[in-house]
Amino acid sequence: MPKGETVISSLPINPPSRLLMGPGPVNADPRVLRAMSAQLVGQYDPSMTAYMNETMELYRGVFETANEQTVLIDGTSRAGIEAALVSLISPGDRVLVPIFGRFGHLLREIAERAGAEVHVREIEWGTVFTPAQIEQAIRETKPALLAIVHGDTSTTVAQPLDELGEICARHGVLFYTDVTASLAGNTFQADAWGLDAVTAGLQKCLGGPSGSAPATFSPRAVEVINARKSIEAGIREAGDAVNAHPIRSNYFDLSMIFDYWGPKRLNHHTEATTMLYGARECARLLVDEGMDVAVERHRLHGAAMLAGVQGLGLSVFGDLDHRMNNVVAVRIPDGVTGDAVRGELLNDFGIEIGTSFGPLHGKVWRIGTMGYNARKDTVLTTLAALEAVLRRAGARVTGGGGVGAAYEIYQDAAGA
Ligand SMILES: Cc1ncc(COP(=O)(O)O)c(C=O)c1O
Repeated sequence: MPKGETVISSLPINPPSRLLMGPGPVNADPRVLRAMSAQLVGQYDPSMTAYMNETMELYRGVFETANEQTVLIDGTSRAGIEAALVSLISPGDRVLVPIFGRFGHLLREIAERAGAEVHVREIEWGTVFTPAQIEQAIRETKPALLAIVHGDTSTTVAQPLDELGEICARHGVLFYTDVTASLAGNTFQADAWGLDAVTAGLQKCLGGPSGSAPATFSPRAVEVINARKSIEAGIREAGDAVNAHPIRSNYFDLSMIFDYWGPKRLNHHTEATTMLYGARECARLLVDEGMDVAVERHRLHGAAMLAGVQGLGLSVFGDLDHRMNNVVAVRIPDGVTGDAVRGELLNDFGIEIGTSFGPLHGKVWRIGTMGYNARKDTVLTTLAALEAVLRRAGARVTGGGGVGAAYEIYQDAAGA
């Protein structure tokens, strides 16, 4: 076969069986996959618009908000971030981005492309900012918007947000956060914490595939966004807004997207129907379970995984007081090649764990317990397999220590 040429198989898609225990994506909940196999309906079929309305209401429950503008952005989590930032930022606006991991850099990058004057503050990966540090940076930079990640999967720590809303309100700053990695696995309360804009994704604790970005916007954020509303020619009607300085992306123009999800049903884009079915099912399952119960499930299985890797004699990275429930960074033991261990886990056990970026590359593995995979059987299987592979790689591990320590966490929880 000439180099670079692809042989197109006539066989149907039949991916190998995998247990995805990395930082996401994880295995989708079979109930979400079933919802996604439902037949399409027309874009404005009454059943479709009813599903859209139901999806908005379900995600109000997931984000813990009363925000009218709670919608899906079509695309992966990054699409949600881009829609929020490009719609909230007018070129020249000052934006403060505190960075404590890879995804803070992404917020900076997107804000810069949206034309913002971006000010960053950086701290060492594995640590988080204090509210006082954020307030000091706000005083120094006087931003229109604070954009900060909640849980950064690259470092596995979660930035406490509960005190930042009050600080932002006092300084007249809009408050945006990316909860892609943390939502439903860690406590999050959009309204109680004073958030103006929040975006997420399905492929982590929500238990779905990537490809839809649930998002919510406060009335204050909506006012800023709608002030730039400009309805595109072709669907514009008499009296519709035309703005000399519209939002710089058409696809991610939230002012038009809100009109698509609202009573006006503006014909902006064709909602990704199958993704909506999946996103709705993710939220339905969570609301049915109860958000507090879902967070507690992630806490329990995350604690069992943490105890398990420590029980094997491995050490973990990052400030454990601020760790996310749903992912742990495990230091790769000396003398062991990280990728070789990951390869054996995948090839011999069908288990995927994560590699890492930036300063942590080659130093830690990231192991997730999230969404559909936040379960006892997945935790115990992963720990048993990791022990076997590490032994073969010549690492010194405590025999049975991983599974044993995890069992203790489960026994304590059962006895509590
Ligand atoms: C915190 C955070 N933000 C954004 C993203 C980007 O998500 P996506 O790949 O769905 O666009 C990720 C993905 O891991 C993430 O963990």
